[in-house]
Amino acid sequence: MKTVLVTGGTGYIGSHTAVELIQRGFRVMIADNLSNSREEVVDAIEKITGKRPAFFPLDLCDREKTNDFVTSHRPDAVIHFAAFKAVGESVEQPLKYYRNNLLSLIHILEAFLGIKGAHFLFSSSCSVYGQCDKLPITEDTPLHKTESPYGNTKQISEEILADTARVNPLLQAIALRYFNPAGAHESGWIGEYPLNPPSNLVPVITQTAAGKRNSLTVYGNNYATSDGTCIRDYIHVVDIAKAHVAALERLLQKKNKKNYEVYNLGTGKGNTVMEAIHAFEKVTGVKVNYEIGNRREGDVEKVWADTTLANKELGWKSELSLEDIMQSAWNWEMTLKAMEKSN
Ligand code: WQD
Repeated sequence: MKTVLVTGGTGYIGSHTAVELIQRGFRVMIADNLSNSREEVVDAIEKITGKRPAFFPLDLCDREKTNDFVTSHRPDAVIHFAAFKAVGESVEQPLKYYRNNLLSLIHILEAFLGIKGAHFLFSSSCSVYGQCDKLPITEDTPLHKTESPYGNTKQISEEILADTARVNPLLQAIALRYFNPAGAHESGWIGEYPLNPPSNLVPVITQTAAGKRNSLTVYGNNYATSDGTCIRDYIHVVDIAKAHVAALERLLQKKNKKNYEVYNLGTGKGNTVMEAIHAFEKVTGVKVNYEIGNRREGDVEKVWADTTLANKELGWKSELSLEDIMQSAWNWEMTLKAMEKSN
């Protein structure tokens, strides 16, 4: 049984990936500094899978502790999710993001290479593309200057991986560029659960519908799209998680063609903000109180993925719809409401 170290594994995508890995027969170790997640997520993963992943509080910015951890636990593979990811916060506090996101990657990579580790998956983002005019976006789409320090940390991280792979044939790495992850596990036991209030559209929709927020501001409806609102490729977090298992198995089975590969993870379909709001209202029957506001600095008008490469090389395709996203996100919001009531 292979052991996979999931850094940031009590976070949103990390926790959903941990579930899929365990259900696929992997042994999972979670290392997380709990800076934006909760240890009780480990209980939820056990509730879903019947198996409890080992949990280790660890700040990857501590080089020595990271090295000691990897040297003593010797994982067969690493999936590196641990990073700060709030775009707006990264604009206000760039150094916090460069320091945390880059040092974490460098330390975990050095430690893993130190034990002659090979199989490494990196959590990247469509934000590495910046503003693109040619759509859909393929992995060969030239990268532009990113819209935020957060996006830049992902772009630089990919360069660190590419340059390291070039001189370390032992390293076998894949970067996965997520488009807009959303939704929650069908069990309702895990979902987007950050310590800091979310700013992403789908949790803002569910919080508004649940009465946690008075209203949702639609950031601009004067874009050149069907209804004037921005287009994004919303992909269910469980589909994203399954793609990580597929990518890991590609590396373990030595099917990768290069020792550093990159794949887009999206549905290949774009939806406007209003279509997302209407999808939520349709599946839940709950109205969303929204108003039209000004454009948000740094928003790209439209972006969606070309997923041909991941479909072909990973044998992976997204299976869940925008409606599945909205239904599962609403179930999760109801779980949170019940949890908050009982606390
Ligand atoms: C989606 C659309 C907003 C909130 C971010 C990161 C990206 C990736 C995914 C990690 C936009 C509109 C939103 C609101 C709104 N994260 N919106 N009102 O900015 O596309 O991407 O999350 O990898 O790196 O940049 O996601 O959900 O914030 O916005 O109108 O209250 O919804 O303008 O068009 P975004 P988002």
